[in-house]
Amino acid sequence: MGFAVLASIVILTLFLKSTYGQQQDQSIPNSDEYFISQFFEKMSTNSTKSTHLYNLSSPVCSWQFVFCDANQQTVIGLIAPNLGLTGPIPDTTIGKLKTLQFLDLNTNQINDFSSDFWSLTSLKSLNLSNNNFSINLPTNIGNFGSLEKLDLSVNNFVGNIPESFTSLTGLQNLNLNRNRFDSVIPLGITSCHSLTSIDLSVNNFHGSLPQGFDTAFPKLKSLNLAANLITGKGSEFSKMVSLNYLNVSKNLFKGSVVEIFNGPLEIVDLSSNCFEGHISQVAFDWSHLIHLDLSDNEISGMFFSNFTLSQALNLKHLNLAKNRFFKQSFIQISELYSLEYLNLSETNMIGHIGNQISELTHLKTLDLSNNHLVGKIPLLPFKTLQNLDLSNNNLTGDIPFSLLQKLQWMERFNFSYNNLSFCDSELSVETVRSAFIGSTNSCPIAANPTFFKKKMHKQRGLKVALGLATTLIILLVGLLLFAFGCRKKTRMWDVKKSCNEENVISGPFSFKTDSTTWVADVKVASLVPVVIFEKPLLNFTFSDLLSATSNFDQGTLLAEGRFGPVYRGVLGGTVHVAIKVLVHGSTMTDDEAAAEFMHLGRIKHPNLVPLMGYCLAGEQRIAIYDYMENGNLHNLLYDLPLGVHVNEDWSTDTWEDQETNDNDIQNVGSEALLMTWRFRHKIGLGTARALAFLHHGCSPPIIHRDVKASSVYLDYYLEPRLSDFGLSKIFGNRVCDDMALGSPGYASPDGAITTKSDVYGFGMVLLELITGKKPVGDEYPNEDNSKAQDLVSWVRGLVRVNRGSRAIDPKIRATGDEGQMVEGLKIGYLCTADLSSKRPSMQQVVGLLKDIEPV
Ligand SMILES: *[C@@H]1O[C@H](CO)[C@@H](O)[C@H](O)[C@H]1NC(C)=O
Ligand SMILES: *[C@@H]1O[C@H](CO)[C@@H](O)[C@H](O)[C@H]1NC(C)=O
Ligand SMILES: *[C@@H]1O[C@H](CO)[C@@H](O)[C@H](O)[C@H]1NC(C)=O
Ligand SMILES: *[C@@H]1O[C@H](CO)[C@@H](O)[C@H](O)[C@H]1NC(C)=O
Ligand SMILES: *[C@@H]1O[C@H](CO)[C@@H](O)[C@H](O)[C@H]1NC(C)=O
Ligand SMILES: *[C@@H]1O[C@H](CO)[C@@H](O)[C@H](O)[C@H]1NC(C)=O
Ligand SMILES: *[C@@H]1O[C@H](CO)[C@@H](O)[C@H](O)[C@H]1NC(C)=O
Ligand SMILES: *[C@@H]1O[C@H](CO)[C@@H](O)[C@H](O)[C@H]1NC(C)=O
Ligand SMILES: *[C@@H]1O[C@H](CO)[C@@H](O)[C@H](O)[C@H]1NC(C)=O
Ligand SMILES: *[C@@H]1O[C@H](CO)[C@@H](O)[C@H](O)[C@H]1NC(C)=O
Repeated sequence: MGFAVLASIVILTLFLKSTYGQQQDQSIPNSDEYFISQFFEKMSTNSTKSTHLYNLSSPVCSWQFVFCDANQQTVIGLIAPNLGLTGPIPDTTIGKLKTLQFLDLNTNQINDFSSDFWSLTSLKSLNLSNNNFSINLPTNIGNFGSLEKLDLSVNNFVGNIPESFTSLTGLQNLNLNRNRFDSVIPLGITSCHSLTSIDLSVNNFHGSLPQGFDTAFPKLKSLNLAANLITGKGSEFSKMVSLNYLNVSKNLFKGSVVEIFNGPLEIVDLSSNCFEGHISQVAFDWSHLIHLDLSDNEISGMFFSNFTLSQALNLKHLNLAKNRFFKQSFIQISELYSLEYLNLSETNMIGHIGNQISELTHLKTLDLSNNHLVGKIPLLPFKTLQNLDLSNNNLTGDIPFSLLQKLQWMERFNFSYNNLSFCDSELSVETVRSAFIGSTNSCPIAANPTFFKKKMHKQRGLKVALGLATTLIILLVGLLLFAFGCRKKTRMWDVKKSCNEENVISGPFSFKTDSTTWVADVKVASLVPVVIFEKPLLNFTFSDLLSATSNFDQGTLLAEGRFGPVYRGVLGGTVHVAIKVLVHGSTMTDDEAAAEFMHLGRIKHPNLVPLMGYCLAGEQRIAIYDYMENGNLHNLLYDLPLGVHVNEDWSTDTWEDQETNDNDIQNVGSEALLMTWRFRHKIGLGTARALAFLHHGCSPPIIHRDVKASSVYLDYYLEPRLSDFGLSKIFGNRVCDDMALGSPGYASPDGAITTKSDVYGFGMVLLELITGKKPVGDEYPNEDNSKAQDLVSWVRGLVRVNRGSRAIDPKIRATGDEGQMVEGLKIGYLCTADLSSKRPSMQQVVGLLKDIEPV
């Protein structure tokens, strides 16, 4: 009984199953749904159930991968990519879809055709890209007379393209990229007159192009033959007048490159062939060109003419690397505003890197490696630059700090094998070893900011002890100052009187008044040495200083600085310097002064104007500084537009007209730059770093004594640099009171000269940077029509009532985060506290400013 029941259940189950199955197969035999479901059924897929790919209970035209005509009657498309379909296409499946026009089975693992596949004579588009075919392409392909698009790319097809291609007269797009075809390109293909795009790249096609190839395709827009072994000449493309994409990279083409440039070419890749000729002779409409790669050929002669490049306004990618150009100077690129990629590696370039490079504001990649470039690294377009290779040249000088800081955001950089020096601690040892091979690490230990950071971190105990000691010392000094305060004040009053009487002399030398003294001085001059610290072998003398400044002529006067006049000059015809003549007031002997100069010469920081050398000429102590190409902050803030000659302006020179040095970028963009919060913040932070270094990184600490906007200069790279540090010792005590106490508006109210009076001066500079107003004598309007007397009381008043944002310079307000600017004013508020003990240290200020750094 039990057995019978069990048996009948089994039988029933079997019956039901077979009936159902038969219904599935038989209810729709030889219909499109049958063929398609069979196709999915029989191709193993990576899904456990193929049934989710189709649903026999609903009409075939509703299936996910099936496309029908407008009446939803006839299947015209099967688009089934990436389903894990594996193996050969089985017979009596999709090969029977008589009306099929579009078949796209890309990205599966199909490896062969069914024998009935070639009856799909309605096919217009066949995409079998990215499958696993490793067979010869059957001649039967010629059956597809309606074919417009054929994509067999990324497979392993071998052998040749069948001659039966002659039948594919409607073929528009042919893509055989990345296969292993290894024949010559057959003549048959020249019958495919409708082709607009041919991609035969990355195969092993060899031999020359079939006869008539150049005229066979009147509509051809895109031709890619890259990475084959095809031979031929440039002239074979000269008749393809509709072509806008031509890629024959990595083949064996020869002949003159000039012949190729014809038609509306936009993208041209001729790299890694044997093309020769002179590209300066190319006559072509360059305005269309977007991408040009001529690298790794045998092109000689000169680069393009200026005229040519000034037409190439759409050019984004230019690669001329690895050719045989004649020795020539840097390419004229100033008009190539769209350029994103510039590769001039191994192009035999000499001279300086063109300054216009900074104007290429879209540049992402710059490769100038393996040339003979000399001079400093110019300003580079860092907003966009991601990839920089300057290796194997003869570049000299310091890699600017600002550049080193940018490296952390770059993908790749290489400065190896030049004559460069750098000082940055944030670089890892591996980076230095691979990207700075042969460069000198010019960091004096004391100028290495991270060294300090680390030392401070590691030696917390020491730090606390130091802190205590410093506090004690400051207390002591404070007490002393307090004790002597009254006496000093009366003394200074006396000095002031005498100074005022002497002040009639405009410069330190009374050339005009006493020419006999002057002549006598000149005789001595050639014996008085000028000491240049880093170039001890340069035998300059005082007479070189005289000739560099035309005998300290008024015309070379840069500024009437605090400690004396400053002149500009070019020493030995090459070294641009600022020459500061210190009014002799100290009781220091010459030996002591020399020792002090040597000491100052060793103090180096990326944000300090370096002292290059000195000269002790009779009564005069002369300090020689690097020339700061981009003027000082005071002039930049208040004397815009630039070019107006004012007293302390180091930037408005005429002498570069006489110089042939084309490596000057005076004021390039500084005017526009200064209009942004980001740049003003950078100036503030750089100045704060310089002061923090003088206060906390030098032993004994150096008090600057004269922090103000006109002491902050912008160097060649628009990096802020503080000048005039440490001169007061040499300058002496015989000073007028305003000199001792700092400049008007910048002097701390308590009159004491400590690091905290520098903090006060810095606070003023910061307020100027954010408000764009001078410390005194500007308009300081309040809401209630009252007017503040000076900048500091105005801003402090506003910050106190949370109205700081009213003080922000309208020129920069919209260029950044207003919240950050208001925070910046608060830092200025802290720095300008009346009580010096309430002012933060410069180290703390650096930290505060870093917190509001615009990203
Ligand atoms: C198949 O289609 C029918 C009718 O449209 C629907 O009711 C059913 O849920 C579908 N089955 C699956 C597995 O999608
Ligand atoms: C099949 O496998 C491929 C790769 O393994 C995967 O990308 C795809 O989504 C899978 N298809 C289905 C339908 O699971
Ligand atoms: C074929 O499929 C690939 C995806 O693998 C796609 O990139 C290509 O554009 C398709 N070809 C055609 C002619 O539609
Ligand atoms: C592709 O074909 C090769 C043989 O030509 C085979 O060894 C390989 O397993 C196939 N790959 C897949 C994913 O089916
Ligand atoms: C030229 O083709 C090669 C190989 O396919 C490719 O790597 C290169 O990017 C192509 N060049 C251009 C400009 O498209
Ligand atoms: C291009 O112009 C620069 C100056 O703008 C000039 O020095 C150079 O000789 C010119 N080069 C050519 C090839 O005309
Ligand atoms: C510059 O071109 C050369 C030659 O084609 C190439 O080797 C090098 O990688 C390119 N540099 C960059 C940064 O693309
Ligand atoms: C750099 O200059 C030196 C001396 O002038 C020269 O010997 C060397 O070949 C130059 N190197 C390069 C890469 O131009
Ligand atoms: C590197 O520069 C220094 C000083 O500027 C010079 O003495 C030296 O010859 C240069 N080295 C090379 C290889 O050019
Ligand atoms: C920089 O260039 C040098 C010389 O070509 C090479 O040895 C070094 O590996 C390169 N470093 C990097 C980081 O590319």
